[in-house]
Amino acid sequence: MATTSYLNLISLFLSFTFAAVASSSTRDAAILLRVKNSQLDDPGSFLNNWIDSIPPCNWNGITCDNRTHEILAVDFSEFGTLAGPFPGDFCRIQTLRHLNIAGNYFNGSISPSSFSLCSQITVLNISDNVFVGKLPEFEPRFVNLTVLDVSYNNFTGEIPASVGESLLLQVFHLSSNFFSGGVPESLTNLTELTEFVAPENQFLSGPLPENIGRLKKLQIFRISSTNLSGEIPDSIGDLSSIKSIDLSTNSLTGGIPDSIGRLKGIEHLWLYDNHFSGELPDVFSNLTSLLQFDASLNNFTGKLPSSLAGLNLQSLAVNDNQLEGEIPTVLSSNTILTQLKLFNNKFSGTLPENLGKNSDLEEFDVSGNQFEGPLPPNLCYKKKLQKFTCFNNRLSGGIPASMADCKSVDYVRVSNNELSGEIPAGFWSSSVLQYIDASNNRFQGSIPDSISKSRNIIKIAISGNGFSGDLPAGICSLQEIVEIDFGNNQFSGELPSCLTNLKKLEKIDLQSNKFTGGIPNAVSSWSYLSSLNLSNNMLTGEIPNQIGNLPVLNYLDLSGNSLSGKIPTSLTKLRLNILNISNNNLEGKVPIGLDVSSLTGNPKLCSPDLKPFPRCRKTRSISYWLVGILSAVAFFLIVSLIWLLVKTPLFRGSKRLWKITSFQRLGFKEQDVMVSLAESNVIGMGGSGKVYRVTLKTGQTVAVKKLFGVHESSETEAEFLAEMETLGRIRHKNIVKLLFGSVGEDFRALVYEYMENGSLGDMLHEDPKGGFLLDWGKRFEIGLGAAQGLAYLHHDCVPGIVHRDVKSNNILLDEEFRPRVADFGLAKTMQIEAKESDGSMSRVAGSYGYIAPEYAYTMKITEKSDVYSFGVVLMELVTGKRPNDSSFDENMDIVKWVTASALSSPEKLSDGGLTYLDQLIDPKMNPLSRDYEEIERVLNVALQCTAAFPINRPSMRKVVELLKNHSTTPSK
Ligand SMILES: *[C@@H]1O[C@H](CO)[C@@H](O)[C@H](O)[C@H]1NC(C)=O
Ligand SMILES: *[C@@H]1O[C@H](CO)[C@@H](O)[C@H](O)[C@H]1NC(C)=O
Ligand SMILES: *[C@@H]1O[C@H](CO)[C@@H](O)[C@H](O)[C@H]1NC(C)=O
Repeated sequence: MATTSYLNLISLFLSFTFAAVASSSTRDAAILLRVKNSQLDDPGSFLNNWIDSIPPCNWNGITCDNRTHEILAVDFSEFGTLAGPFPGDFCRIQTLRHLNIAGNYFNGSISPSSFSLCSQITVLNISDNVFVGKLPEFEPRFVNLTVLDVSYNNFTGEIPASVGESLLLQVFHLSSNFFSGGVPESLTNLTELTEFVAPENQFLSGPLPENIGRLKKLQIFRISSTNLSGEIPDSIGDLSSIKSIDLSTNSLTGGIPDSIGRLKGIEHLWLYDNHFSGELPDVFSNLTSLLQFDASLNNFTGKLPSSLAGLNLQSLAVNDNQLEGEIPTVLSSNTILTQLKLFNNKFSGTLPENLGKNSDLEEFDVSGNQFEGPLPPNLCYKKKLQKFTCFNNRLSGGIPASMADCKSVDYVRVSNNELSGEIPAGFWSSSVLQYIDASNNRFQGSIPDSISKSRNIIKIAISGNGFSGDLPAGICSLQEIVEIDFGNNQFSGELPSCLTNLKKLEKIDLQSNKFTGGIPNAVSSWSYLSSLNLSNNMLTGEIPNQIGNLPVLNYLDLSGNSLSGKIPTSLTKLRLNILNISNNNLEGKVPIGLDVSSLTGNPKLCSPDLKPFPRCRKTRSISYWLVGILSAVAFFLIVSLIWLLVKTPLFRGSKRLWKITSFQRLGFKEQDVMVSLAESNVIGMGGSGKVYRVTLKTGQTVAVKKLFGVHESSETEAEFLAEMETLGRIRHKNIVKLLFGSVGEDFRALVYEYMENGSLGDMLHEDPKGGFLLDWGKRFEIGLGAAQGLAYLHHDCVPGIVHRDVKSNNILLDEEFRPRVADFGLAKTMQIEAKESDGSMSRVAGSYGYIAPEYAYTMKITEKSDVYSFGVVLMELVTGKRPNDSSFDENMDIVKWVTASALSSPEKLSDGGLTYLDQLIDPKMNPLSRDYEEIERVLNVALQCTAAFPINRPSMRKVVELLKNHSTTPSK
């Protein structure tokens, strides 16, 4: 009886407990489901098993207490694709302790009310989502919070000071956000804190908390790239548990406090890239746990303290300071040193002899100092050395013999020293070696054929030494090589013709040696070659015709050899920044389009019209043929003219018009147009002619451009005709339609459709009609449209067309202000351009302020010159200034002005820097219309377009892409 009632009692108790558990678990399941259904977006269906028939403790992402079945944790960090607002409602589950939604797409700003639900949480991880706005205050106090990770979001505003009341907080991560307002002093209340990690908060700024030393349990303190200023507080020496301090890339000033010598357990101390100054204190002797010390890129002065040099460090970096004096020899007894970076200081004396002997040295860089004496002989003793860099010192003696079997080294820069002797042969044959620069020393000896084993080498520069002997054919096995610089040595013999096997070559410099024989013929394989300098050798034979077909060659110097034969006409096709073939034995007619000054010292060259060359002797048989053909043509012309004279009533006896071609059947005659070319109809005057507005009898209005100076132009009518045909066929929404062209006895005329709103230039620089161009959006559309028009000319027309006079006055606006590229007065098809022969005079191409710099020395206009001019137009659109605006100083133009402003303000829009844009933007532009991001993008495109070297300018097709910002991809 007693037993039964006892059992009853137990079962009563149990059912009671179960009921309580069941009801709370039912309520919690309901909370989970409500949040899931009303707030979460789950494209990956990770929460598919959140259904009534399965107990919530088995649902994905849910962890329960094994015993009580209470829900303890919601963890979505494995899923990666969930989205929605901050799911603070989960915290309505009373037992929830961990909320981890890291690495998803939760977004929006976190409402204080939703956040405050979570004050019982111990671990809150919302990192790597897309949250924006302020991180709410921690109210009510989050007393049990131990881990808080909000890093990798877009939080702005201040770090809430109330976090300083979560006294149990141990781990606080907030990297990569946009927090501002400094580190709250309340942080120093968090005496349980072990990790404070806040790098990449570029607006955080402010000083380090004065009482940082209160954080006695802090082990990791990382706050790089946060724009901190002020000095390191003395109290830093009280961080008695610290292992890692990273203050790099800030604006901290002052010196390193002596108290740093108390951080006995510290392993990493990174202070690089600040404004620290003063001497490095000699207080390091107790920091025996320190592994990595980096104080580079500051203004430290004085000597390298021996207490620092004597530590057993893995990595010592003090490069880019003002340090001086000798390197303490004790440095070489270090047994774990792998990385030594002393470059760009004022160190002097000799290098410690035993460097490399006691540790696995991998990276050795002492360049840019005043070291003298020999190189340490054992740098590669442990066969681990990879980077061997000591250029710009006064080191002397030879490359240590031990370097011969240093098969680990891939990067060698020893240039600009006083090193001498032969380089050990084994040194040249390493399959690891990628880069060697030994130029400007006193090395001698030859290059062994076994260099062929350095098959991964990319660059060899050994110019300015006393190397001699042949260029070994083994060099032709270096299939990865991009740059060969062997200039200013004593090399002799012939150039191996197999050099043309090296298909990745971009630069070859063999100048000032004693090479003989010819230039290899099959150079067409050098499709990446941009610079070829073979000057001042004893080369003979002809310039290979294939050189002119190299697609990216822009520097060609063959001067000072004994090259003979004719100059290949193909050279005129190159887009060269530098051409020099002077002082050779070249002969024959100078092809048109080459810069005359690059040809001097070739007495056998001749030209019919170019000074200072003598006239060429005519070849008889050819001229007989020419006379025959010309007479036949002349006869035909005369007959046609007479026929026209008779047939054309309007011009009979006076001006004779010869219709060349008509592109559209428009119901009007050429004569209708020509009679209206009266001064009263002139609407514009350009470099190549006058423009008239003519209303035809049909009521249609057209623009007629009458070209000047038929007689000065040597262009034949056949060429004119061919060009008219090409231009007449163009149909593009951003190009003005050419209706027809007409050639009279003493003028040529082009008839275009009439553009209602004149030119972009007038709109921008003259009184704008109705202020239509005051809005940025309109300007952008005009820029983009014009770019599309030019891209069509360059890339979609066959043959391609170079406009040659791109400027704002040649971009016309129709009645809806849509842009049309106009005025092909100077345009040429690339085909005609290429075969342009001696007879044609080179007209001045382009307009002042828009002409690409290469025109000054090559007299050649390519489609990349159009790109330059277009860049100028983009700058006009943004700034509203003329290319040579009167507000500029002397020697300043719009390109220099915009480039200088962009360069002088490294602070870009993305850094919140509006100032440089605001001083560039046209003050007339409506402030409300300014899309600063788009304006900055357009300016960047303009800067690329106006690059000094044509090769660095984007194609027009690319320009269109860049303007449309097609390269943007989502960050996740
Ligand atoms: C619950 O049980 C699992 C496996 O049985 C175990 O791995 C886990 O540590 C336990 N959790 C708790 C909170 O006891
Ligand atoms: C903090 O944790 C303790 C122990 O788990 C608990 O008793 C207390 O209720 C928690 N405080 C809050 C505000 O959740
Ligand atoms: C977050 O900031 C980055 C960098 O500025 C930006 O590209 C991204 O669009 C921002 N995301 C949101 C949601 O604001």
